[in-house]
Amino acid sequence: MARTAYIHIPFCAHKCDFCDFAAFAGVDDLSQEYTRVVINEIAERVLQQPNDGELTSVHYGGGTPGYIDPEYLLDIHKAVRGAIGLTPDAEVALETTPHAISLEKAKRWKEIGINRLSIGVQSFNDNELKAMGRDHTATQALKGIEIAQEAGFDNIGLDLMYGLPEQTVSTWGQTLSTALSLRLPHLSAYGLTLAGNSPLLVRYPHESESYPSEDIYVSMYEALVSMAPATGLHQYEISNFCQPGFQSRHNLTYWTNDEYLAFGVSAHRYVNGVRSSNFRSLKRYMRDYLGNETFEEIDEKTKAKEAIFLGLRLREGINVAEFRLRYGFDIEQLFQEKIEKLSAGGFLTVENGHLRLSQSGVLVSNLVIAEFV
Ligand SMILES: C[S@@+](CC[C@H](N)C(=O)[O-])C[C@H]1O[C@@H](n2cnc3c(N)ncnc32)[C@H](O)[C@@H]1O
Ligand code: SF4
Repeated sequence: MARTAYIHIPFCAHKCDFCDFAAFAGVDDLSQEYTRVVINEIAERVLQQPNDGELTSVHYGGGTPGYIDPEYLLDIHKAVRGAIGLTPDAEVALETTPHAISLEKAKRWKEIGINRLSIGVQSFNDNELKAMGRDHTATQALKGIEIAQEAGFDNIGLDLMYGLPEQTVSTWGQTLSTALSLRLPHLSAYGLTLAGNSPLLVRYPHESESYPSEDIYVSMYEALVSMAPATGLHQYEISNFCQPGFQSRHNLTYWTNDEYLAFGVSAHRYVNGVRSSNFRSLKRYMRDYLGNETFEEIDEKTKAKEAIFLGLRLREGINVAEFRLRYGFDIEQLFQEKIEKLSAGGFLTVENGHLRLSQSGVLVSNLVIAEFV
């Protein structure tokens, strides 16, 4: 049984040069038809595989769900509530760009039942925003946040990015200071990753000196990890920080290796031991919304491995006893040599029954986690 649902809304005002999500600009005329298709998908999937239990979280991601007409969100949300059901205290989160927020829209989001906003700011430096191909300024970002607060949203998370072209440790520090001065309850900060065919590479190829060097990149992450706690944000995952009680319920589902439903183009789900995803092409999805782009049955050993590499992302790490009960493997036995080697190197610790990354392990988390894959 899944307690979480992800719904992908692929529409954006503008396609950013660095973005590899199923996100499309200039096809707004499809949004009404898309809404109808998603509603059909919800109804048919739930009929095929009833989910016995209500959802504790629904996440509207994208794309930019905040960009579309809120009445389409209302229609989809009604379908989720009707076909699956939500607990009274469910987290209902919506991703948006800051300049898609208007007071009228934000008030409507509240009426629909959305109670958490995730706002993609990326940077408070106009030069960097331009370099990465965003279509808004830092001032517009601050304005969007202010409007969301005026509409009554207090559960707001900001997304930032580092490792950007034209970014320095100093400009990143300024972006962080501005973000932290807002005292919002949640912050995500992602290192830039580019797909091989990313349009950003045309203007800034990999070898361009405009990107921060490896050392600077690490210093940027160190600045993040040291500055966020000073303003009351606790690091609960490699890239995520929050005030107590404000973790993203939806994202926690991924890291605790729990199952989740998903609807919409390119949406990825994990249901009854199967990971599958919808077609990534918008046209193909809209023609065949129950078809699979990917489909993988997860066997017991893979489940345990996935739980390790996802669980290690959490700062509290993995509860070794719970892991044994849930997956039937003793992590310390299964990976004895690796754990000894990585602990001796100072990258992992086993303390109070939890296997977790050490502070230096977090800095090279990809390499440490790769040892368990
Ligand atoms: C789907 S976007 C949602 C928000 C909204 N569409 C926006 O861009 O403001 C989710 C977040 O993923 C992050 N992201 C997108 N592309 C990325 C990339 N290539 N590398 C690292 N992070 C990325 C950004 O921080 C972005 O806010
Ligand atoms: S607005 Fe967000 S989802 Fe849309 S293209 Fe830009 S980063 Fe991607």
